[in-house]
Amino acid sequence: MASIPVLAIDGPTASGKGTVAARVAEVLGWNLLDSGSIYRMLALSAIKRNVAFDDEAQLVKLADALDASFDHGRIVLDGEDVSIVVRREETGNAASKLAALPAVRLALLARQRAYRQSPGLVADGRDMASVVFPDAFLKIFMTASAEARAERRYKQLIDKGLSANIDSLVLELRERDLRDSSRPVAPLKQGPDSVLLDTTAMGIEEAVQFVLDHAHAALSAKA
Ligand code: CDP
Ligand code: CDP
Repeated sequence: MASIPVLAIDGPTASGKGTVAARVAEVLGWNLLDSGSIYRMLALSAIKRNVAFDDEAQLVKLADALDASFDHGRIVLDGEDVSIVVRREETGNAASKLAALPAVRLALLARQRAYRQSPGLVADGRDMASVVFPDAFLKIFMTASAEARAERRYKQLIDKGLSANIDSLVLELRERDLRDSSRPVAPLKQGPDSVLLDTTAMGIEEAVQFVLDHAHAALSAKA
């Protein structure tokens, strides 16, 4: 198990990590873990069952029983395609609240590690490098200015047909960044062994190439 290579990409919301992780996984022919969607699906499950975002014991039960999967790009919860609703900003905010609870994080750990399958895994989230896959062969910390990220998220939501307001997005993004980086357990922060990738002035293809170049260099250094 430990020899299967993992490429970890962490970073704040709308830094581009999900898009870049998916492209890199496609190019390498590796598996993909979008860990944020697992937290988001737990949030949707809690909303559906009227469980409060701070009810740790009930959330752990929900996490243990979570019927969540990724099916050819579709995000499926309880057999239902939730690919659109899972991307809503309120789902992300709810996910960020329950993600601050240590027992909830622990309950989702094994589920995330199970994605480590041959020939390799590209995993994106907040604690891929620090907690879930500390032995990842390459750790990228992807970021971008708050303004660039809010604009990207705005365009993304509008393109998906979801409503969005740029001013409230900037506020929500700041609030979520603060909550994610100040929580005591698995806070979002760049580790000493992570490579910084600032995509503020960078297109997706350039960011993908940056990650691939580092991956090839690290893999050939290991060989
Ligand atoms: O996963 P994360 O929240 O970090 O971001 P994402 O969903 O991958 O990217 C948010 C939006 O920004 C997407 O619509 C991307 O296409 C876009 N993006 C961009 O315009 N330029 C980049 N360098 C990276 C992402
Ligand atoms: O796409 P975006 O970056 O906006 O969010 P996401 O990656 O889908 O994650 C939603 C929320 O789940 C984040 O704001 C985090 O609070 C939480 N999360 C986490 O705590 N640890 C992870 N590995 C992934 C997400």
